[in-house]
Amino acid sequence: MARLSSSYFEGVALVTGASSGIGRAFAVTLAAAGMDLILVARRAEALEGLAAELLHTYGAMVEVVVLDLADTQAVDEFARSLKGRGVSLLVNNAGFGFKGRFEEASALDNTGMVNTNCIASLLLTYHCLPDMKAAGRGGVIFTGSVEGESPFPWSATYAASKAFVHSLGIALHDECRGSGVDVLVIAPGPTDTEAPRKQGFRNEDLSGLMTPERVVTEALAQLGKRNYWTPGWQNRLMTRFLKALPRTLAAKVAGAGLRAALIKSQRAT
Ligand SMILES: NC(=O)c1ccc[n+]([C@@H]2O[C@H](COP(=O)([O-])OP(=O)(O)OC[C@H]3O[C@@H](n4cnc5c(N)ncnc54)[C@H](OP(=O)(O)O)[C@@H]3O)[C@@H](O)[C@H]2O)c1
Repeated sequence: MARLSSSYFEGVALVTGASSGIGRAFAVTLAAAGMDLILVARRAEALEGLAAELLHTYGAMVEVVVLDLADTQAVDEFARSLKGRGVSLLVNNAGFGFKGRFEEASALDNTGMVNTNCIASLLLTYHCLPDMKAAGRGGVIFTGSVEGESPFPWSATYAASKAFVHSLGIALHDECRGSGVDVLVIAPGPTDTEAPRKQGFRNEDLSGLMTPERVVTEALAQLGKRNYWTPGWQNRLMTRFLKALPRTLAAKVAGAGLRAALIKSQRAT
């Protein structure tokens, strides 16, 4: 683990999607580094269990916030309440996807994906940035996805939501230059969490599968150095390949690869 030397690692970290997977790994790593935490997700029991563990193991003070990030009004109220709370590191990590034909997911699931993956991240960043800039220190991490780098048939809304996250984060990185606030977008590929299983994959079928801890280690090592990072060489290679293709062809290749992986997992179960 790289040494977390920036002064914003001495404040409070807000991590969304901390009840499992990559968000949980962020919470554990940041608590181990001495940060106090505000942890957000819907599953109260998982968050409270983690909070107790982090207090016991690292002495971290942890506030649990049970919140549905698809509820934009509730997110806005929560984000406004953060003013003056000393959030020095914001990890916009919560998200979910759906694999299949666009209209097979309900309209509400599609809009909920955009609200959770995009709007919640936008609102939290919008309300936390002024305090960070006033303090002259802060970090904001957005968890995107390799799927944000190309249109992905069979994952249309999810890929579009991650393209939004990539664009927003990279733009804010430049706007924050010289303010003491570092912004980073990470674009993980297959990661061994609940997410692939919930979308119909068998995790063991996914090539280049990474642990959430590895993704977090790479993210924290890149914060303050770059605006964007894809953890894992296989994912970097795949993204480069897709980006070298004309967009229409990239979408065809991406969709075919995704569909083949889904069918393989479904045949095996
Ligand atoms: N795993 C992968 O292969 C992969 C690849 C690329 C990118 N990502 C991205 O990585 C991030 C973390 O995913 P993960 O892989 O760690 O999956 P995960 O284990 O399913 O974790 C997702 C987290 O997001 C939270 N969440 C989802 N919907 C929410 C909502 N409406 N309101 C509040 N919290 C919500 C979940 O908490 P609750 O269910 O308790 O609400 C959970 O803590 C996501 O943005 C995902 O898109 C994952």
